[in-house]
Order: sequence, then structure tokens, then C-alpha cells
Amino acid sequence: MIELDAKGAGTLGHVQRDIDRILIDRGQIADRIVELAEEIRRDLDLLSEDVEIILVPVLTGSIIFLADLIRHLPHKIRIHVVTASSYAGKSTQSSGTPIIDHLPEHLENKHVLIVDDILDSGTTIRRIREEIERRGPRSTQACVLLRKTIPSAMETQCEYIGFDIPDEFVVGYGLDYDGYYRNLPDIGVPKKEAL
Ligand code: IMP
Ligand code: MG
Repeated sequence: MIELDAKGAGTLGHVQRDIDRILIDRGQIADRIVELAEEIRRDLDLLSEDVEIILVPVLTGSIIFLADLIRHLPHKIRIHVVTASSYAGKSTQSSGTPIIDHLPEHLENKHVLIVDDILDSGTTIRRIREEIERRGPRSTQACVLLRKTIPSAMETQCEYIGFDIPDEFVVGYGLDYDGYYRNLPDIGVPKKEAL
């Protein structure tokens, strides 16, 4: 058996070493997801039986959030992943023109819930919502774990929000820098020298 306390902590230390401070810890994330799921559950309960529920997670940042969130939703749901890339490699700024791929073809009579890690410029959520709505679903909603408290994010339509955070670049719990740090269990601000 693997001894997580001894080996796990040491291994994860590589990632934790690059973190300046934890903004939201795993306990706070878990508690908030229970509340968020409760809000979503209440709304999904109001849908008629003949509407199918499709969750549309945005890869790759939403994977951990999605995995935790869906386990609090007792409905009959399907998952259809889409991809979006708005950061070009080693950058902490959105490029402004995310490329959206793998969108579902037919969404008639479906209820769609887009799930993403973070709302920043808002372009990703807006673009995906537009594309989804063009496919004629019964309804479309969006859920993000984090929203930066900047006008572009605050003005973007999004029905469910986990936490409002300051305008800082964050990693962990699915969020990355250059593909790394997604496995940090908390959400933290990386050290300047790590970027
Ligand atoms: P938006 O289109 O500018 O709202 O950007 C959303 C996408 O950019 C998210 O799905 C994330 O993948 C990424 N992103 C934005 N801010 C951060 C951050 O602080 N850390 C890591 N990724 C971020
Ligand atoms: Mg993303």
C-alpha cells in the first residue's frame, strides 16, 4: 500500500513549493460546492421530465470541479465535453480569441449547463453560450467555480458562481499555468518566479 502521508506530501511538495499563498483551501471549496449543487438541484428539479440535462464542461480546467460537482447532482445527466484554449502557452493573460471545439450537434429539447473553472475576460463563456444557443436547446445556463472581480467577468451572464476572487492569476484545483499545477488540491497564487 502507498503511504500517502510520507510519499504523497513529499511529491506534491514540488507543486506547493511554487505557491506564494493559498487563496481558497480544499475545505472551503468542498463546502461551497455543496451549496452550489443545492442551488443547481433546486433549478433542475423544476424542469419537466422530458427535458434532458446535458452538462458541458470546458476542458481542461473544469475537470476537477466537474468531478466534485456532479457527485452532488442526483439527476439523470449526460456529459458532453468541449475544448477552449484562450491562453497561448506560457502566459497569464487571455488571448481574447478562444478556439472552441467539439461542440455538440443537436441540442433540441435539452437543458444545457456549461461548467468552467473561472470567468476572466468572459469571452470563453460568452462564445460557448452563443454556439450552444444556436443549436436550439430548451435552456442554457453557466456555472463557474471562480469569477474575477473585474468588469468584463462581472458583466458576463453566468447563473452559478462559486467564489468571487481578486484579479490575480490563480492555479490549482484544475486551473493551470502552462499546463502545470492542476493537481494542487487548493487554489493558490503562484510565486512570481514560478511564472
Ligand atoms: P476568459 O475567456 O478570459 O473568461 O478565460 C477563461 C479561461 O482562461 C478559463 O477557462 C481558464 O482556463 C483561463 N484562465 C483565466 N484566468 C485564469 C487564472 O487566473 N488562472 C488559470 N487560468 C485562468
Ligand atoms: Mg479553461
